[in-house]
Amino acid sequence: MSPDSPLTLLGGRSVRDFLREYWQKKPLLIRGAFPDFVSPLSPEELAGLACEEGVESRLVEEHGPDGPWQVSHGPFDEATFSRLPARDWTLLVQAVDHYVPEVDALLEHFHFLPRWRLDDIMISYAPPGGSVGPHVDQYDVFLLQASGTRHWQLGGLVADEAPIVQGIDLKILEHFTVQPGQDWHLEPGDMLYLPPGVAHHGVSESEDCLTFSVGFRALSADESITSFADYLGEQLPDSLRYADPDLEPATQPGEIDDAALARMRRLILETLDDPSQLTQWFGRAMTQPKYPDHPVPAEETTDVDALVAALQAGETLERTPGSRFAHRDHGESRATLFVDGDAHDCDSTLAARIAGDEPLDADTLPLPGAPALLAELLQRGSLGWPLAPDDEDDT
Ligand code: SIN
Ligand code: CO
Repeated sequence: MSPDSPLTLLGGRSVRDFLREYWQKKPLLIRGAFPDFVSPLSPEELAGLACEEGVESRLVEEHGPDGPWQVSHGPFDEATFSRLPARDWTLLVQAVDHYVPEVDALLEHFHFLPRWRLDDIMISYAPPGGSVGPHVDQYDVFLLQASGTRHWQLGGLVADEAPIVQGIDLKILEHFTVQPGQDWHLEPGDMLYLPPGVAHHGVSESEDCLTFSVGFRALSADESITSFADYLGEQLPDSLRYADPDLEPATQPGEIDDAALARMRRLILETLDDPSQLTQWFGRAMTQPKYPDHPVPAEETTDVDALVAALQAGETLERTPGSRFAHRDHGESRATLFVDGDAHDCDSTLAARIAGDEPLDADTLPLPGAPALLAELLQRGSLGWPLAPDDEDDT
């Protein structure tokens, strides 16, 4: 697909136009982004997921038994859902793409953006009146209306220090003023793109309101510096430290002079400014799985010959939902493939293939080092064989 072709998903705009005019800049309402969209999940199935151990979920009750805007965390049970009133609450389930293949499949539509920028698909269900209050998020999001109707209002860009309501567990803005022309009722298949920092407020208007949030992630400066320094720090020799062979006689023994600060600054900046270490850290950081229990290693030992035979017999390896892949070429046909926070030095065509969209079938095998690397990723659980229909029924 050319970046200049019009896409229904982007309201007839091309990827290039969308990136230039809207991405990280301003909101965009796209009517009929997914024409005739039918939710692959019902509110009851979402509630079922929220009852499962290991699935991250929250319940927001505007008029909770213990006070306004009460937030509770899953797993929930049937008793929780049966005590809830007829309106004004929201159930939010994180990373549904990890658990529901049909939801994971939606992510393909967003591959015009780097895959390692994607975070997850969060799904909310709310009866009429349900909302999480007017708020602001620090990440880009595509809000796809999957069923029912939601009333969205936008309040413009909000400063970091904007006051929030005190004494509750939610970050609800104290002041929210709807911007002219930014007030819409979204129907199934409609989608709203929001860049970071834009105040928004979405209220359910129907019994079956499901909203899918395709969320992106970007490390904060704080996280980036701390994490890169930690990664680098583990590899630095103890002997690399502040040194002052150019020391001049001191006029005041307690003074930290300009030369001392310049030496320290040089030590820090020169140590940090290492492009190859930056690549190694960034690839690991951006493919770090969302949850520490992911991926789950295969129970059986992966036999390379058996894997080759299975691919040659027409089977295809799948990227495990929730696994993250990225690659960086180094020239001379070599690359680093990053998978779920680990790095693998390999052939560059192989790295691009594994981190790409195409199926991993027998065509992959002739690439140098392919059988061993595919077997390793299968063993780690980042790749897997498709589930047989019977297995799927069990989950
Ligand atoms: C929701 O789906 O209720 C909230 C999504 C959001 O505002 O980020
Ligand atoms: Co939000």
